Amino acid sequence: MGEGLRIDPWSSSQPTDYANIIAQFGLQSLDDIEIPDPSHLHRRGLIFAHRDLDVVLSAQSAGQPFGVLTGLMPSGRMHLGHKMVIDQISWFQNLGGDVTIAVADLESNATRGLSLELARKVALEEYVANYAALGLRPDSTQVYFQSTRSVVQKMAFTLGKRTNLSEFEAIYGFSGDTNLAHVMAPLVQAGDILHPMLDEYGGLRPIVVPVGIDQDPHLRLTRGLAAKSNWFNLKSRKGGGLTIGLSVQDDNSMALGVAVDGKLDRKVRQSVIDNIVAEVADLGFADILPNAKHGSVQIPSATQSDRSPIKMKLLRLERSMGGVGLLQPASTYHRFAVGLTGDKMSSSVPDSTIFLTDEVATVEKKIKRAFSGGQPTVEEHRRLGGDPDVDVAYQYMMYFFEDDDKYLAEVNVDYRSGKILAGEMKQLCIDRASEWLINHQQLRDQTAHLVSDFLAADSR
Ligand code: TRP
Repeated sequence: MGEGLRIDPWSSSQPTDYANIIAQFGLQSLDDIEIPDPSHLHRRGLIFAHRDLDVVLSAQSAGQPFGVLTGLMPSGRMHLGHKMVIDQISWFQNLGGDVTIAVADLESNATRGLSLELARKVALEEYVANYAALGLRPDSTQVYFQSTRSVVQKMAFTLGKRTNLSEFEAIYGFSGDTNLAHVMAPLVQAGDILHPMLDEYGGLRPIVVPVGIDQDPHLRLTRGLAAKSNWFNLKSRKGGGLTIGLSVQDDNSMALGVAVDGKLDRKVRQSVIDNIVAEVADLGFADILPNAKHGSVQIPSATQSDRSPIKMKLLRLERSMGGVGLLQPASTYHRFAVGLTGDKMSSSVPDSTIFLTDEVATVEKKIKRAFSGGQPTVEEHRRLGGDPDVDVAYQYMMYFFEDDDKYLAEVNVDYRSGKILAGEMKQLCIDRASEWLINHQQLRDQTAHLVSDFLAADSR
C-alpha cells in the first residue's frame, strides 16, 4: 500500500491519497499542533501536513525571527491555486515572518523559453500586482530574480556536490534522456529556499515554505542537502537523550581536527569538543559527556524538544568556524482544489481554473459549466441529495470564496440532503466569486503603485 508512490512536480495528474502521502513521505500531521489565529485553510483541514512547522511557531511565539518563502513561475496567468499559496504567505507575514519571493526566471527561461525581460514583466504585472491586492505588505517582502542573485546560483552549484544522478532518479524519476536544465532547476530551487538564512539575507532563522504536495520532492531534496552539509549532527542517544556527532567532510576535516595525513589532531579536536560543550552548557544542561576521540558529545538529559535550540547553537558554531550552517527548511502542505473541469487545475487549461484577471462574465460561464456533484434530475436530487465532496461549486466556496464556517456547514448539509439543487449551488458560488473578484480588481487598482516597493534592492 502506497509503496512506490512517486510525486512528480511536473505531472499533469494529482495525488489525492493524503493519508498515504503522509505515511510514505514521513510528513507530520497538523493535528497535534496548535495554530495561532487559524485561517480558513487551517480550520477546514485544507492545509493537512507539515515538516518542522513546530520549529517555526516556537520561534514566532518566542518573538524570534522567522521567514517564509515561495517562488513563482513567471509564465501564464495567476489563478486561484496560486492565490492559495499567497494567502498562506500573507498569514505568516501577519504572524511576524519576513517574506522572500523567488521569481523563477532562470527556470522559465530554460524550460519554457521565456526571455528574462518578458519573465520580469509577467512577474510584476501578473503576479506581484495581484499579491499586493491580496494584502501582502511590501515592507517585509523581498521579491528577487534567480537570474540576478548570484548567491542562489552559487548555492545551486555547491549544493550539487551533496547529491548525484541516482538520487535525482529516485526523487524525480529522471533518466538518461532528461534535459540537464531540468536537472538544474531543483538545485537552483534549493538555492532559493536556503539562501535567505545566510547572514547577508536575514541570517540564521527558521524558514517555512508553504506548498502543494506536488512540490514536496523539492523540499525533500533541499532538506537532505542542508542536512548533508552540516558539520555537526544530532541523533537520539541510546538509553535516552541526544548525541552530537561530527560530520567530517573534505572541506571541514582540518577544522574538525583531522590532519592532512588523516591522523587526529588532538589539540584542534579537543577545542572543537570544548566549544560544543560550552554551547550546550549555555542552554542549561549540566550532565554532558564529551568524547574527543570519537568526536561526540552526549547529553543524556536532553529531550526531543531540546533538539531545535541545540541545533541552532550548533549551526552558529559551524558558522563561526567557517561553515555555511544551514537549517533544514520547514514546510506546510495544502490539498489541491480540483480543477473546474474535474481534472487538475492548470494555467495551460483556462477552463480548469479562474484567473485573478478574468471578467465576471467569464467566471460565471466557467462555474456554470463546472463539474457538479448533483443528480441527473431534480426528482433524483431531492431524493438522493448532492455530493459536496466532488461538487466544484461547493469546493470553490470552501477553498476560496466563503469565509463564514457556519454558513458553509449549513450549505453542506442542505446540499447533501437535496434541499439545495445543483444549479442553485452553482449560483451561490457565482455570487460569491463575482463579489470577491470585483472587490479584488478594485484593490488591484488601489495597490498598483506599490508593486515596485516589493522588489529587493538587487532587483529594482
Ligand atoms: N518551481 C516552482 C513552480 O513551478 C517555482 C519556484 C521556484 C519555487 N523556486 C521556488 C517554489 C522556491 C517554492 C520555493 O511553481
